[in-house]
Amino acid sequence: MAQRKTLARPFTRPNNAAELHCGSVSLVALAKRHGTPLYVYSADQIRERFCLFQAALEDREHLICYAVKANSTLGILKILAAQGAGFDIVSGGELKRVLAAAPEAVSRIVFSGVGKTAAEIDLALDEGILQFNVESEGELELLAKRAAKRKIRARFALRVNPDVFAETHPYISTGLREHKFGVDIRRARELYLSVKNNKWLEAYGISVHIGSQIRSATPFGAAIARVVELVNVMKKDGIVLKAIDAGGGLGIDYHAEVFNAQEKVNEYTSALKKSLNDFNGRLILEPGRFIIAQAGALLTRVLYVKKNGNKTFVITDAAMNDLIRPALYQAHHEIVPVLPRKGQVKPVDVVGPICETGDFFARDRKLSPVETGDLLALLDAGAYGMSQSSNYNTRPRPAEVLVDGSKVSVIRRRETIEDLFATEK
Ligand code: LLP
Repeated sequence: MAQRKTLARPFTRPNNAAELHCGSVSLVALAKRHGTPLYVYSADQIRERFCLFQAALEDREHLICYAVKANSTLGILKILAAQGAGFDIVSGGELKRVLAAAPEAVSRIVFSGVGKTAAEIDLALDEGILQFNVESEGELELLAKRAAKRKIRARFALRVNPDVFAETHPYISTGLREHKFGVDIRRARELYLSVKNNKWLEAYGISVHIGSQIRSATPFGAAIARVVELVNVMKKDGIVLKAIDAGGGLGIDYHAEVFNAQEKVNEYTSALKKSLNDFNGRLILEPGRFIIAQAGALLTRVLYVKKNGNKTFVITDAAMNDLIRPALYQAHHEIVPVLPRKGQVKPVDVVGPICETGDFFARDRKLSPVETGDLLALLDAGAYGMSQSSNYNTRPRPAEVLVDGSKVSVIRRRETIEDLFATEK
């Protein structure tokens, strides 16, 4: 396998260049041209990661529905749609985003989420999405009503909760009975049977999503095994499902420089295929993070370096409003000086300007010497970075640029203060 494929990220120093690059483009040049904080993405890496899933499932009917929530910027959705991706959405807003970026992809949309409103259901019915992933009895009733009213047959999948434990941060674990997601797998058959004769509902599939940033393939396999058991029981009831949606959740390595993404995808899809056994319908996946996280970095400039007691603080122009993962999930992001200085590596706290002690990117992180004006790259920030950003402290959100070969496109301009006032009176 080509060495490039085993590198975790597209941010390197090609031909021993002093500066960190994204592909062939220098991050120093990007910061100069577009300012900081700045999200930078590699189009090549996004395509490469998406294609790993496609290749691994070549031998069976499948649809890879990129989880829009991970990064919903139109320019990113366009790249994936061009590769044939479907989309997993969780709101009417995300539906509108897919329609804006790639209207032809509407028949490849699955709609997840525990709190769909009637208006969102109507929009999705009218646009003709592939499947509603229904998360409760109440939602199934509402879907039936809205579908009947509009005389549109709705394809649905019950999202079942398989009660499988997966090792990850408690905020992003979803597959246990005590979580708010899905319906208890033991009740699913009864629900499918209750709408068997409803002419406005088509039991198209069944779905499951056990959580996010899951590094082991085992819990995914276990969840699908439970789902397949149920699918087989229901066949005897005359309910023949066409699709199994295995959700998203495959994790990455936020620490390592080398990461064999292909091996990871193969391990994951093999576990799924093994559990699918003789189910020969369509396999739907909803990966988000695995496709987009490592394609993106948040580029930031050092404003000040200061000492308080024994501690050294590196204060950057990016903050928790731009990337909230360290503050919210104690998440680790590698921090790399774009032009490293010589000298001893020392532990520092890398923090933003926001008035909260929780506004940090790293604590006691060993960094080579850093001075005011230096650029730092926060790696693996492509997923749940920009999409979870906010305007806290009335901070305009960063611009986003996409590097495709030697071409750089601004896929989102930097917000202005006027943008922030625009909705207020
Ligand atoms: N499908 C469903 C139904 C989901 O709820 C999610 C993520 C995905 C797919 C995509 O999961 P992924 O492949 O990206 O793991 N903000 C958190 C992650 C939240 C995940 C929410 N659901 C973080 O930054 O780690």
